[in-house]
Amino acid sequence: MASIPDFGTFFSRFLAARTRIEYPYCARISDKKSMKRKIIIYGASGGIGSALARALAKRDTDLHLAGRDRNKVEELANELKTGYTVGDVNDEDYFARVSEDAGEKVAGLIYAVGTINLRNLRQFKTADFLADFRVNALGAALAVQAALPALKKSDAGSAILLFSSVAAGQGFPFHTSMGMAKGAVSGLTLSLAAELAPGIRVNAIAPSLTETPLAAGLLNNKKNADAIAALHPLRRLGKPEDIAETGAFLMSQQAEWITGQIIHVDGGRSSLRTGG
Ligand SMILES: NC(=O)c1ccc[n+]([C@@H]2O[C@H](COP(=O)([O-])OP(=O)(O)OC[C@H]3O[C@@H](n4cnc5c(N)ncnc54)[C@H](OP(=O)(O)O)[C@@H]3O)[C@@H](O)[C@H]2O)c1
Repeated sequence: MASIPDFGTFFSRFLAARTRIEYPYCARISDKKSMKRKIIIYGASGGIGSALARALAKRDTDLHLAGRDRNKVEELANELKTGYTVGDVNDEDYFARVSEDAGEKVAGLIYAVGTINLRNLRQFKTADFLADFRVNALGAALAVQAALPALKKSDAGSAILLFSSVAAGQGFPFHTSMGMAKGAVSGLTLSLAAELAPGIRVNAIAPSLTETPLAAGLLNNKKNADAIAALHPLRRLGKPEDIAETGAFLMSQQAEWITGQIIHVDGGRSSLRTGG
């Protein structure tokens, strides 16, 4: 007949069993955490940037958020339990601060910062053109430059995602400044993709009009919004999630054979004519 162990024996067997079960379990959790890929998102508090942050957080990615509006960035960082850096892309020191805060090794960089500045050519001043170029194109180049050492350290290759526009591939009236700035982003995407291959993939998304704060001025009148939606073969405006899902895929390892592409997430607007 098996003897009943005394309390001391029972307790030491219990501790030994716990150690065998829990120690490897804890190790697996911390291994998994350290293997998470970290992605920096500039413009993280914007409509598309925040949708991308949420989409990537669902895919078990570590994030570092960079944004201009402290309250909005802090709120999102608390929601997603991530690090963040506050600043303006017109301040060149900002890029080094973001890279330092994000850490020594990152697997991705997203630059979802942008402006919309639509007027007649005659109304643009030199400073307006330069401001759009700085925020949309130069800022993207400086963000990549600052993150490059950390991107190069990524174990399984890394990825960059920039934002062009439907207006870089198709002419729209009143878009001279935006067309110039976003055309530069498309060119930057191709040049970087060639220069950084094979270790770092570089792609851009060129959205058509998407329901975010950036587009609010064009969409606050329902009649206008419906008329613009009807110009799209898929008969609606973009939602931030449409762009975010494509962006999350491009940043993932499932997209490891895609680089140097400008992906048109635009309801068919840039390539189809369905009205005869
Ligand atoms: N929505 C569209 O219809 C559309 C169409 C084509 C291309 N895109 C491009 O998609 C990307 C994301 O835009 P979105 O639609 O998400 O617009 P959004 O909601 O306005 O987000 C843009 C982000 O850029 C930030 N930003 C602007 N100027 C900045 C500066 N000087 N320093 C730091 N941050 C600055 C904004 O910060 P604050 O929150 O502080 O303002 C905001 O977080 C942009 O590159 C945009 O050009 C959008």
